[in-house]
Amino acid sequence: MSGCPFHQTSTPQQVSSVPERAVRAKRVSLPRLGWNLVSARFHFIHTLQRLFKATGSDTLSVWLPRTNLYISADPKLCREILVDRPEEYPKTGWEHRVLSPAMEDGLIILDGEEWKTRRHASASCFGAKSIAQLAGILSEVSARRVSGWDHAEGRSIELNHEFRCVINESMMRFFLDGSSLDETLPGGSDEFSHAFSRVEKGLETRVFDVLFLKERLRTLVSPSNGFHRSLHTVTNFIEERVFDSSKSAGDQSALKNLMDRIPSRRSVSREIRNMSGAGATTAHLLSWIGHLLASHPEKQERLRTEVLGLQLTEQGPELSEIEKLPYLSAVINEGLRLFPPAPYLIRKHVSGRKGERPSFFMFSVWAIHRDPKVWRDADQFAPERWLDDSEIPEQSFIPFGVGPRVCIGKRFALTEARIILSTLLRRFRLELIPNGRIPLPVFTVLTRPDRGVRVGLVPILREALLPAPQWPLQEKAL
Ligand code: HEM
Repeated sequence: MSGCPFHQTSTPQQVSSVPERAVRAKRVSLPRLGWNLVSARFHFIHTLQRLFKATGSDTLSVWLPRTNLYISADPKLCREILVDRPEEYPKTGWEHRVLSPAMEDGLIILDGEEWKTRRHASASCFGAKSIAQLAGILSEVSARRVSGWDHAEGRSIELNHEFRCVINESMMRFFLDGSSLDETLPGGSDEFSHAFSRVEKGLETRVFDVLFLKERLRTLVSPSNGFHRSLHTVTNFIEERVFDSSKSAGDQSALKNLMDRIPSRRSVSREIRNMSGAGATTAHLLSWIGHLLASHPEKQERLRTEVLGLQLTEQGPELSEIEKLPYLSAVINEGLRLFPPAPYLIRKHVSGRKGERPSFFMFSVWAIHRDPKVWRDADQFAPERWLDDSEIPEQSFIPFGVGPRVCIGKRFALTEARIILSTLLRRFRLELIPNGRIPLPVFTVLTRPDRGVRVGLVPILREALLPAPQWPLQEKAL
């Protein structure tokens, strides 16, 4: 195989052909996509939507020098490939090449037998007991972080960073047997979250730096540049704890479960790093939801009324009660629909026939979720649509993927979203900042708000007693 980034992983040996639905795809020339590939960070995904509309086809075929590329918003084709024939469509070498510095040896990029064994090992951390344990940690960590916003009255906060801190602190305590970033790392969860954010941006750069020339040059000039330093901060924290606590890890802990099932401690550390990195998806989702709620005060109010109705125990509301809240679930689903944190699902296909070009499939989750043929008022924030099951085209809602490689952290992510949102809304009202900038989605690896999401905060319990905050709010990050 050549230097082509797509051709890196092992390939299945059987002879098979691409599905009929793909063969009928509309041909699009590379120049028609050209400019949008160059400016892909912001425009590519919107261009795809326009092309799907203009060609009247929801699958496009792009002829590339050594491969066929299919770009699709067809949920049926997506299911055929990811659910019915997953063995014939493994992950691509391209994903491996882009993600490997941070995700090396991790479930997300493994394939074949190695993937099966690792998936089984990792699943031990996601059962009902683990979710209940995570919920307890999240309630405590989010209540503490949100109470720190009290003195932010009349000011604004950047939600993405705040959510990352809550999630990272909770993930570390969960996966590392109670180890707290805030209590043990200089700079605490803030420093750790900044480091993870720099790693994410470093991975984004690799998407367009096809031969990694920029990265090589940067490493040559400064061997400990931001990306490597940040990755080192994250890796070190996790490795030290995995190696130290290997004897003392509690019987029921996630760490013990992983250590019993994954042979090397280094691999355990990497898997924990990968899972924690995946936590950025929930932080992005929550940031978009924060922006949507600040933009729709009446929907925010409806949600607040619902969460204020929760019975409190000493540890906060019970997870089983939070899970029953219909409007909270509706808001989260609508956030996942409008801003799917994983914007693409990518697979490859090798026919096994000699001399036949391999094919690559890129499913645009964004376009599937906003298809006006399927979704009423597709671009509108309308959580109410989720309150009537008959309204939901299930096949066209795939934020966590589908098939055997469906997100293993789905319940984790939903628990994080439910607890953090309900804790926040019980204490604060989120407001748009007049003349503030509207966040734009960057789709390179995850659907991330380009410069975070800054909102105004009004504490609700004292709201009635205090004069309304004076705009413009003081822009002060916490
Ligand atoms: C809102 C939050 C999240 C979203 C939208 C999301 C989405 C996804 C999607 C779409 C996939 C499938 C990718 C593919 O088929 O190519 C995936 C896989 C995965 N996710 Fe998530 N994820 C989220 C949160 C999490 C969390 C919190 C964790 C860990 C605690 C996690 C761990 C993983 C792992 C390990 C895989 C790979 C599974 C495999 O290949 O077997 N995710 N996620």
